[in-house]
Amino acid sequence: MALWGGRFSGGPADSVAALSRSVHFDWRLAPYDIRVNIAHLHGLVSQQIVSATDGVKIEQALRELASEIASGTFHYNDLDEDVHSAIERGLTAKLGPLGGAIRAGRSRNDLVVTDFKLYLIDHLLEISESLTELVGAISKQATAHVGSIAPGFTHLQHAQPILFGHELAKHSQALLRDIDRISDWLERNSFSPLGAGALAGSGLLPEPEASAQELGFIGLMANSIDATSDRDFVAEALFDLAMVGVHLSRLGEEFTLWSTTEFGWVTVADAFSTGSSIMPQKKNPDIAELARGKSGRLIGNLSSIMVVLKGLPFAYNRDLQEDKEPAFDSVETLLVLLPAIIGMVETATFHPDVMRAGATAGFSLATEIADFLARKGVPFSTAHEAAGACVKLCESNGIDLHQLSDDQFLSIHPSLTSDVRGVLTAEGAIDSRISSIGTSSQSLSEQISAIDSETHLARLWISSESKRFTEMMNS
Ligand code: ARG
Repeated sequence: MALWGGRFSGGPADSVAALSRSVHFDWRLAPYDIRVNIAHLHGLVSQQIVSATDGVKIEQALRELASEIASGTFHYNDLDEDVHSAIERGLTAKLGPLGGAIRAGRSRNDLVVTDFKLYLIDHLLEISESLTELVGAISKQATAHVGSIAPGFTHLQHAQPILFGHELAKHSQALLRDIDRISDWLERNSFSPLGAGALAGSGLLPEPEASAQELGFIGLMANSIDATSDRDFVAEALFDLAMVGVHLSRLGEEFTLWSTTEFGWVTVADAFSTGSSIMPQKKNPDIAELARGKSGRLIGNLSSIMVVLKGLPFAYNRDLQEDKEPAFDSVETLLVLLPAIIGMVETATFHPDVMRAGATAGFSLATEIADFLARKGVPFSTAHEAAGACVKLCESNGIDLHQLSDDQFLSIHPSLTSDVRGVLTAEGAIDSRISSIGTSSQSLSEQISAIDSETHLARLWISSESKRFTEMMNS
């Protein structure tokens, strides 16, 4: 059904209808569109643009339509241009011309952006919930590996020994920031554009604050022109989701690397691996690789909205219709990716013995020698040189640091007394990192409990926001 046509001599060319059409993707907005229409209707009734009796009829029809949409009995057809026209068609089919009364005082320009904000609020909350589950799964594994010693890498080269739990828990920090960004998004963007009309505000509805409140927004946007063309909230959401994707890709890369025969640090459960059609022995970490790969499209979706917005005049321009598919895609990509990643993390078996065997390889205790000297008052640059000389001597003799003799240590620096051997163990190196940020087991345990309490708070916040949102949608 077309929502315009009076001043045209005929319908659009088929090619135009095909280009213009968005209903095949914006149909996802249908439940939100109905809810926004109900709030808008209340405004029309309070201003007596629609009589109270007609208001009841229209509201009843909208609610019927909502259940028909939910059950699949009402669907868009080949002639509907977008979700708004499909819903107005449904309304008119039930009420005759009265169905068209809902259009007074609003435009698709303010309607679509209000629907879209509600869609994003709803789905960002759902994604946040999955993120807390992933943080929980990582925490559990990190707790199980508070005692597992592993080599830590910089430049993918052995650097210093660490606890493997520390290695895992770092991902939780990144994901908690993602959740925090979403809560921050919600606070900044929870302002309603409804009432902006086409661009200038509505002459029929003097108090759109009421519909903003009814829809659960913090308040009303301040400028109707901005309200119809602001898509910062889409770009920000797409950044937040792309960042989640980047974090998952880094986690995926580690699982891919750790599951190689060369590393042998992790066995991914069969249910979270895939095989090869030609090589019968293969068990591939495809989930981890898909996490790495899918971050590409999430970043692409962010670029796509930024390019649509760049240089675009304010107020509504049809370019803005291009805002939705990238957002739907990012949301849906993460909703399918996150459960698989959660499962992969939960069911992974790590191999602490293999990690332990490599913990001191590559002279990764050399920093301990430099720190030993620094504690004795030797300037760090001199200490660093001396520790480097120890490594060089070991390399030329094919031995490890703790195998240097007392005389060899003393020949390198007079302060390298035999008690230096006391710091030349992975356990000693790890236990010395006692600051709150460090890798000692005490520090790590405290970090994990802080993560757990932050996750608990995030869960409380998400469930109360989701409950509030669902109540608003059902009211
Ligand atoms: N389907 C459009 C969108 O998603 C909304 C319609 C506004 N169209 C218009 N010609 N003013 O942005």
